[in-house]
Amino acid sequence: MATERVEAMSAVSFSKRGRRLAPPEIARLMDLALETPGLLSLAAGFTDTESLPVDSFAEIVRRVTRRDGPPEYLQYGSNQGRSGLREAIAERLAQYDGGTPDAFDPDRAVVTNGSQQALQLASDVLCDAGDIVLVERPTYFVYLDVLRGLGVEPRSIPSDPESGRLDPEAFARMLTEMRDAGDHRRIKALYLISYFSNPASRSPEVDEKEELASVLQEAGLTIPVIEDAAYRELYYESAPAASSILSLEGFAKFPKLYLGTCTKPFATGLKVGYGYCSDEEWLRRILYLKGAHDFGTANLNQAVVEEALVSGAFERHLETIRPIYHRKMRALNEGLVESGLRELGWSWTVPAGGMYLWLRAPGEMETGFDSEFCRTCLEKGVLYVPGELCYGDRPERSFVRLSFGVLSEESLREAAQRFAEAARSLAA
Ligand SMILES: Cc1ncc(COP(=O)(O)O)c(C=O)c1O
Repeated sequence: MATERVEAMSAVSFSKRGRRLAPPEIARLMDLALETPGLLSLAAGFTDTESLPVDSFAEIVRRVTRRDGPPEYLQYGSNQGRSGLREAIAERLAQYDGGTPDAFDPDRAVVTNGSQQALQLASDVLCDAGDIVLVERPTYFVYLDVLRGLGVEPRSIPSDPESGRLDPEAFARMLTEMRDAGDHRRIKALYLISYFSNPASRSPEVDEKEELASVLQEAGLTIPVIEDAAYRELYYESAPAASSILSLEGFAKFPKLYLGTCTKPFATGLKVGYGYCSDEEWLRRILYLKGAHDFGTANLNQAVVEEALVSGAFERHLETIRPIYHRKMRALNEGLVESGLRELGWSWTVPAGGMYLWLRAPGEMETGFDSEFCRTCLEKGVLYVPGELCYGDRPERSFVRLSFGVLSEESLREAAQRFAEAARSLAA
C-alpha cells in the first residue's frame, strides 16, 4: 500500500517502519481459505493435528507441576531462556553435527517464541532500510515479509533453475557486479534454509554449502549467515548427512546463527524455537532486543519442551510423526501421479523429508493469485501457495507449493484430484 494512502486513511502519523508494513501474504491465503466453503487447503504450513502429543503433553505437565519446590515455571523466566532447555538444545546440536556432547555452549543459545521470532530479531539488529540480504531461489516467503517490513532488499543467489543447486560462477559474477556498482557494502547477511527447505524441500550437501562459503569469502564478504533448520528433524527415513554451518570448516570465519524449532517436531502450539549464535556481540544485541519484545519466551512452554527433550518424549514423538508425514507425502504425491499430472507436463521431485511438494507447471503457465489456474483451483475447491511469493526478486511465475502437513491422507488424495482436474481443464 502506498505511503500516502496510509496517511490519508488514518489520523495517526506512523513511523517509516509502520508505514512500510503491508498485510502478510499468509493473511491473504487464510482469507481465501475462510471465504471458500469446502475448500481443501494445501497452502497453510500447519502440522498434523491428529498426532499432536496430547498424552505426552499432559503427562509432562503433571510431572513438571508435581516437582518439589516453588512453581517457578509459572513465574517469569530469564530473557535468554531456561538453562536446562539451552543445555538440551546444545546437546542435540552436538548429536546432529556429530560433535562431542560439550561441543556446543548452552550460553550461545537463545530460546525464542518460535524460530520466527529469532529470524525477526536477528535481522532487526543487523539491517537498516536499504540493506540487502542474500536469499535462496526460492525461499521462505514469510521471511521475505520480515525483510520487506524492515525495508531490506532480498537478493537471490543464482541457482540452477531445474535442480535449485547453487551456481557458484554466476554467484561470483553477481557479487563482482555488486561490488562494481558499490552495492556490496549493503549486503548484511545470507539466509539459508538447508534441510528440506520451505518451499523446495531441498537439503544442500556439504560441498554445496562449502562452495557458498568460498564464493562469499573470495568476494571479501564474511557476512553473518543465518541457517534456518526448521525441518531438519522431519526426515522420513534417514537424517540428512550434511552438518550445519556451525560445524563446517568453510564457515569457520563467518558469524553464524543457526535456527531450530520445537514447533514442528513436537507441539506446534507451544511455539518454542531457538537460535544458536557463534558471534557473542550479535547474540548480545539479539538478547537486548528480545528483552524489549517480551523479556523471555513463555516459561511454562519452555519447561514442557525441556522436560520433553530430557525425558526422551520429544524423540519418541518424532519417531511417531516421521512415518505419518512420509505417508501423507506419499498420499499427495501418488494422488497427483495417479491423476495424470505428470502426463500434463507438471514436474516435481519427491522429497525425503519436510512438509512440501514444489511443483513446476508446464510451459509458461502462471500460477499467481490472479492467474486463471489459481481461479480454476478455487472453483474446484483446492488452494495452494503460488510459487511466485517465494522469490526475493525476479519471481518465477509457474511454481506451486503444496503442503501436506494438516490434511488427512484421504483429503490429500481428494485435493490432488481436484488440483489435477484444474490442470487438465486448462490443458484442454
Ligand atoms: C523455513 C521456516 N522457518 C521458520 C519457520 C517458523 O517456525 P516456528 O516459528 O514455528 O519455529 C517456519 C514455519 O513454517 C518455516 O517454514
